[in-house]
Amino acid sequence: MIFTDTHTHLYDEQFRDDACAAVERAVRAGVTRMVFPDIDSTSRQAMNDLAGKYPGNIYTCLGLHPTSVGPGWEEELEKIESLAGPGICAIGETGMDCYWSREFVREQEAAFERQVRLSCRLGLPVIIHAREATELILNVLERCKALSPRGVFHAFTGSRETFARIMKLGDWYVGIGGVVTFRNASIAETVKDIPLDRIVLETDSPYLTPVPHRGERNESSYIPLIAGKVALQKGTSIEEVAMATTRNAERLFNF
Ligand code: NI
Repeated sequence: MIFTDTHTHLYDEQFRDDACAAVERAVRAGVTRMVFPDIDSTSRQAMNDLAGKYPGNIYTCLGLHPTSVGPGWEEELEKIESLAGPGICAIGETGMDCYWSREFVREQEAAFERQVRLSCRLGLPVIIHAREATELILNVLERCKALSPRGVFHAFTGSRETFARIMKLGDWYVGIGGVVTFRNASIAETVKDIPLDRIVLETDSPYLTPVPHRGERNESSYIPLIAGKVALQKGTSIEEVAMATTRNAERLFNF
């Protein structure tokens, strides 16, 4: 079985001492492809250094995370726009996050729209982080509709209605992660109604650790736990989930 972790931050400081071991554990678990979403200029070097050691296993992105949008965000974006080109598989992660703070909500919106437009110019997908900002995000995508943006709503935990609205916008996928394994998580029910051909798997490591590792650091080798829960909820086999979600990731990121 071949799995793809479409959203993992194994270059995070929490892996300072064992990032290579974590990558290798993932590959041994069948997670042979990992997508590293970018956060901002402070962690970009670490991301590229680790990815450079595993060509063919790790794919990188360029983007400015919504919680990194603050004073100096325009210079950060200019850097991204000048670096973006061959060698990256997506723009992101970008989006909007009104959970942590609304202080820079206007700037987050502007930075998000610029990154969506950049992704369209480059013919790349966009990785969207949406936290308590669904309406704002959908408005931006609606404004950019003529450019046919495409991509993934990472860490999707929305409702069936939200999923239906996303599908109306075009060629979109949703990233399902560790939350699907949590007791009483609504996404575990919702996922039953999301077609398998619109789902990609992700850990978002080091965060959102699946059961039975909750409370510990998350890592890409836990993807089969997420795949297993998706299979259970959808009444299918883990092999089928592995195959379908890897095929979806190939389409999404053009591997
Ligand atoms: Ni992330």
